[in-house]
Amino acid sequence: MTEPLLEVDDLRTYFTTEEGIVRAVDGISFSMMPGQRLGVVGESGSGKSVTALSVMGLIEPPAGQIVTGRVMFKGRNLLELDEDELQSVRGGQIAMIFQDPMTALNPVYTIGDQLMETILLHQDVNRSEAREIAIQAIEDVHIPNAKAQMLDYPHQYSGGMRQRIMIAMGLSCNPDLLIADEPTTALDVTTQAQIMDLMLELAEERGTAVMLITHDLGVVAGFCNDLQVMYAGGIVESGTIDDIYYNPQHPYTWGLLESMTRLDDEQQHRLYSIPGSPPSVIDLPRGCRFRPRCGFATEICGQVLPALRPVGNPGQMAACHHAEELNLKELKADAAPTVEPAAATDSDLTDVDLDLQEADVEGIEAQRSAMDQVEGEEGSL
Ligand SMILES: Nc1ncnc2c1ncn2[C@@H]1O[C@H](COP(=O)(O)OP(=O)(O)OP(=O)(O)O)[C@@H](O)[C@H]1O
Ligand code: SF4
Ligand SMILES: [Mg+2]
Repeated sequence: MTEPLLEVDDLRTYFTTEEGIVRAVDGISFSMMPGQRLGVVGESGSGKSVTALSVMGLIEPPAGQIVTGRVMFKGRNLLELDEDELQSVRGGQIAMIFQDPMTALNPVYTIGDQLMETILLHQDVNRSEAREIAIQAIEDVHIPNAKAQMLDYPHQYSGGMRQRIMIAMGLSCNPDLLIADEPTTALDVTTQAQIMDLMLELAEERGTAVMLITHDLGVVAGFCNDLQVMYAGGIVESGTIDDIYYNPQHPYTWGLLESMTRLDDEQQHRLYSIPGSPPSVIDLPRGCRFRPRCGFATEICGQVLPALRPVGNPGQMAACHHAEELNLKELKADAAPTVEPAAATDSDLTDVDLDLQEADVEGIEAQRSAMDQVEGEEGSL
């Protein structure tokens, strides 16, 4: 059986801020197979980008810390690599495309120079070979006159062209995994569709695994095989696109799907709007993090954080105490239960939660001093 390409196990990434500990990613586990296209969706602040940055080794200490977890990529724990080793993985075996290409492209270098620099860094080739690979990479993303384009600067390009160049750069070293964080959000709908089609064509052709982070469930449906739904630093549902779209098991996923316009909805059902807003990841509500917005909540939901567990179709997982009883696939927005206004506030935090937060802070501090000690010892070798 094929081995997973990426295995993330109990990853927790916290930030120390003046307001408190931000539990941006709080105990997530998932894996990706070679060639798999995984969509990661969730509202703003749910931890999607921090997940990607953690995998890429781009969390900046001392404020940001990976407190626990393993990120196994092709059999190696990326969290144990030093910066040089990580550099060779980044851009080479794992590439990342960001929402705003202008922040990733250097305005003072030509497109050709920047492409060639990436290629020279990760491939054992000379300058003239790197130039040929760069020209081919521009042709691959369907930009005409590739040779001439090598001499252009990023500001001479439209948003769509710049995003094509980012894809060219990302794929120029044939990575095993491409992480695309909201790659088309800044583009108009037509350009967005063209860019997604291009990424799909190239990823399929080369067998590249792609983690696509987006708010747009429509984009995910056209591009991905599998989906992972994040809420307040955790994964609340995962499974294949079809399983989740046609048989959601978590009330939050159901809410996301019902708030989306569907072309196949001939009866034009009323669109649902998930009540309230996500909790602060500093002051998390006790128990299920979705409870303040969930019309199905019962007593246990306010007490115990539900674990992600198999439910629904084979391979599907959800983190909801009542998943088996809800029959969400039959539920229409008009019939959704209303939410009790016992919404979570800071007063929801019990002494237990506050103790936990203090324990986290102590844990982070203990880990930091242990790391300082190790660094000190390494420095003295
Ligand atoms: N460097 C940082 N310092 C402190 N908090 C941070 C930092 N980076 C991210 N966070 C916090 O971590 C949480 C998760 O952020 P993240 O960027 O992963 O969200 P996201 O799901 O990508 O949201 P969006 O859809 O808006 O991009 C948020 O509460 C965010 O404010
Ligand atoms: S565990 Fe309870 S509060 Fe959370 S999603 Fe399920 S029913 Fe709603
Ligand atoms: Mg983000």
